[in-house]
Amino acid sequence: MQAWFMDDSNEDQRLPHHRNPKELLTMDYLADLGVLYWKLNPDNYEHDSELGKIRDERGYDYMDLLDPCPEKVSNYEEKLKNFFTEHIHKDEEIRYCFAGSGYFDVMDKDDRWIRIWMKPGDLIVLTAGIYHRFTLDTSNYIKV
Ligand code: LAC
Ligand code: NI
Repeated sequence: MQAWFMDDSNEDQRLPHHRNPKELLTMDYLADLGVLYWKLNPDNYEHDSELGKIRDERGYDYMDLLDPCPEKVSNYEEKLKNFFTEHIHKDEEIRYCFAGSGYFDVMDKDDRWIRIWMKPGDLIVLTAGIYHRFTLDTSNYIKV
């Protein structure tokens, strides 16, 4: 996982959008915003005791699969558009990436977009009340 402040350009949302100069944010910075992070072993995601422990401790008993690809989901373009529309939830958003990669953008207290690049093994929790959005990156492939 890597995170950075985004630039203001309207170019393709799947590009990295680093600010110039490129600067990475620390986990502490993200934690201050309410973004929690764990690094797990993605090879074993179906039987991962470490993941099981986090689920038990935090009371996560529900799971859904986000596997955005045009062959598998109806209204693919519309779904991607909705994912990239900034939104907020009543509860935490918990996402574990076990294949591919993609961007979760979160808004900080000064309305700046922070881009979080998720790779296999990355688990993030966005605590309730954080504006966020999601997009594929240029690989066009993620499973979370
Ligand atoms: C969600 C992500 C895409 O709400 O933000 O599922
Ligand atoms: Ni969301």
